[in-house]
Amino acid sequence: MARVALIGGDGIGPEVVHVAASVLEAAAERHGVALTLHHWDLCADRYLREGITITDEERNRLVDEYDAALLGALGDPRVPDNVHARDILLGLRFFADLYINFRPCRLVAPALSPLKDPDPATDIVFFRENTEGLYAGLGGSFKTGTPHEIAVEESLNTYKGVERIVRAAFEHADRTSRSRVTLVDKANVLSYEGGLWRRVFAEVGAGFPRIARDAMYVDAMAMDLVRRPQRYEVVVTSNLFGDILSDLGAQVTGGLGLAPSGNLNPGSWALFEPVHGSAPDIAGKGIANPLAAVGCAALVLRWLGMDAAAADVDACVPASIREGVTTADLGGAATTGEVGEWMAGRLRD
Ligand code: NAD
Ligand code: IPM
Ligand code: MN
Repeated sequence: MARVALIGGDGIGPEVVHVAASVLEAAAERHGVALTLHHWDLCADRYLREGITITDEERNRLVDEYDAALLGALGDPRVPDNVHARDILLGLRFFADLYINFRPCRLVAPALSPLKDPDPATDIVFFRENTEGLYAGLGGSFKTGTPHEIAVEESLNTYKGVERIVRAAFEHADRTSRSRVTLVDKANVLSYEGGLWRRVFAEVGAGFPRIARDAMYVDAMAMDLVRRPQRYEVVVTSNLFGDILSDLGAQVTGGLGLAPSGNLNPGSWALFEPVHGSAPDIAGKGIANPLAAVGCAALVLRWLGMDAAAADVDACVPASIREGVTTADLGGAATTGEVGEWMAGRLRD
């Protein structure tokens, strides 16, 4: 019996996770696979109520008792320092050593791209390093709140951390018959980390002679993702650059409402989450696009080895766009719940 923890989180998170859950249940029923879903109350409300973000025991139980988790989003204006998101989302990434942030951006419907004449073949997968870089929390603040304040935020890069994400990118390219892996960095300025990444990229890449390698500076990459996104296949990059570029990649391929992601430690544990955040501006209105969360549901099923069910859930996304059963951000008039009901109905048919 596969077990999946559902963490709605904040804002639109619970709304889109509700849809993902109904789609998971319908797909499991259709394919006769056993799947248990449990809701976990980890969010800003709980933090404000109890003063607890997530306990060590809860982190242990999530990883020990579940095969994976699906999270909506974390972020609430009532928690301006974002401490609960740091403890829950970043905490789980670090605790379970989820070193791959797998972020696919595929142009499922060219009309949804803001680009003029987008290439329908655009299909980029970002491999974002997920446990190091500027997210390591190294640094400090001195003389805080005075005119002499000093703030230091250091970027941590280890050989082990760089090697395993670069290898994961090449192995994915190999397995999925992609022809190129692109490294994105800022090695012209950040020469210590850039030097390490470039050496490791060449060293690991040499083991995959069929796959072409190139390197881009992150500023030029931001420009090129708008100019000719179809050129990029597998992109490997550091934690912060991957965070930024995956929002850009999501937008050129149809918007944040469509982009799923997986935080993965292969063979161990995984946490799936849409690339988008808690969208406080639209929360509670029933208009959040649930397709990114549905994409996450498909990734969950694939993680569990339920490939046929995953393929059916994946197919729901282009089908809903084709049939016009979408939320307003994609030009439709359906509510979040109506998109979910339509998909669950399609899966049960
Ligand atoms: P956001 O992604 O929440 O929203 C950006 C814009 O996109 C908003 O206009 C929003 O309405 C729109 N949008 C996002 N998802 C949508 C959806 N599914 N359907 C329709 N429109 C959608 O980014 P933000 O406003 O910068 O962040 C809000 C909060 O979310 C912050 O607290 C941030 O830290 C947090 N956040 C969390 C995650 C996560 O938990 N994975 C990711 C990103 C941001
Ligand atoms: C993401 C989010 C998170 C990140 C935030 C909410 C901590 O933006 O998953 O992309 O920066 O990784
Ligand atoms: Mn982000």
